[in-house]
Amino acid sequence: MLTIDNINFSGERAIIRADFNVPFDNNQKITDTSRIEASKETINKVLSSGGSVVLLTHIGRPKKNNTDFSCKHIVNALSKIIGRHIYFSPTTIGEQAEKRARKLKSGEILLMENVRFYDEETQGDINFARKLSKLGSVYINDAFGSAHRNHSSTAVIARFFKKKYLGKLIEKELKSIDKVFNSGKKPILAILGGAKISTKINIIESLFERVDNILIGGGMAYTFIKAQGGSIGDSIVEPDYCNYALELMEKAKRKGVTIHLPSDVIIADSFSNMANKKVCSI
Ligand code: 3PG
Repeated sequence: MLTIDNINFSGERAIIRADFNVPFDNNQKITDTSRIEASKETINKVLSSGGSVVLLTHIGRPKKNNTDFSCKHIVNALSKIIGRHIYFSPTTIGEQAEKRARKLKSGEILLMENVRFYDEETQGDINFARKLSKLGSVYINDAFGSAHRNHSSTAVIARFFKKKYLGKLIEKELKSIDKVFNSGKKPILAILGGAKISTKINIIESLFERVDNILIGGGMAYTFIKAQGGSIGDSIVEPDYCNYALELMEKAKRKGVTIHLPSDVIIADSFSNMANKKVCSI
């Protein structure tokens, strides 16, 4: 694992792919800044050794460039947390964006507009990744929450750099996972959330070799519930993976792993805070 502790960033412009996908209230106010705070160490390391920083992130899953998802909404919080001025580029690629990046002096930070304002990002488009790579001289991936995505700014972009590293957040998370798996202490419980089973097949199957219990929550729980004959209303589901969910449950049993599903859920008559709600057993 190539980490940044012993790297001197003097004279370098480091692209840091962070995960600033923070929650907002209706007034575009951030309700939890943890993800921004988590990027501080990596940013400071680059700056303190003489480099400058170009920050890439996504926010939400915007349709085209819906300004509700603009990175301009995080500039103030970022500036407060890092304790420095943050320059903002309203474009993420192209001549203007590159010009702004090139103008950065040592110790300066430029935040680029939401990478997902470009459809190519989530398609893992190589040309888009090439354009992003022009923003810096080295690449650091510190977007732990998105590192599993095969997107242009998280995975594909790394191909364009000789000097590429993992940031402090990813390093810490990997060390924590390692500590749990290699402590020798049992039992181990894994908690899994997220919308889909289909994107987590490898993770779930590899957990079977290492943990004793898996607690499944989030949207993916409904595929397991439906697979077992449960009624899930309009909840998110992957019908094509119901059989696979049953297979997973069988496999878990054979491996001595207990899968725990939610025992109750909140049902509502619409997807809204104003809906009539009720707790019911699954
Ligand atoms: C998250 O919040 O889970 C990450 O930022 C990844 O977001 P995504 O699921 O939209 O890729």
